[in-house]
Amino acid sequence: MTTTPAADGDELFALHTLRLNINGEQRRIQVHAWTTLLDMLREQLQLTGSKKGCDHGQCGACTVLLDGKRINSCLTLAVMHDGAELTTIEGVADGEALHPLQRAFIKHDAFQCGYCTPGQICSALAMAGENHAHSRADIREQMSGNLCRCGAYNNILDAIEDALPACRGELETSAPALGKRGSAA
Ligand code: FES
Ligand code: FES
Repeated sequence: MTTTPAADGDELFALHTLRLNINGEQRRIQVHAWTTLLDMLREQLQLTGSKKGCDHGQCGACTVLLDGKRINSCLTLAVMHDGAELTTIEGVADGEALHPLQRAFIKHDAFQCGYCTPGQICSALAMAGENHAHSRADIREQMSGNLCRCGAYNNILDAIEDALPACRGELETSAPALGKRGSAA
């Protein structure tokens, strides 16, 4: 990471240059020290699939994968992640081919307004990699950080339960870091 001082020398307004792999594409981006990962994605890179629900780490709408692990992107500063691999909902499909989770959400009608859906899918994707969910009750517990204001929980659970075996199969045959998916936003 390199830092460019502000014109007036005020350290607070210095710009920090990060190099990130986002959805398989190398990106170079300048951020202020206070920029959250979510604001960087939405405001600077126009990757608006990740949603800002609460901006306080309580709803999961902003969930992305950071080096293959799920994280609330509203709760972490971009400058902390120079060199990281990020997968956002824009990078989950493989080109035109939807991910099994995306297909399952459609099949089970697992959304109403859709605002929570990107976070639900990214979170479920990481949960599949964690491999701790072995029952519907496990899935419910481990997805409890992702709220749905429309109350579509039963359909969301149906979708995730349906797609989990395919997710695990795909993880076994694909690159270890989910951020290595080829499709870019
Ligand atoms: S917007 Fe990040 S947890 Fe709600
Ligand atoms: S589908 Fe509307 S918040 Fe979940």
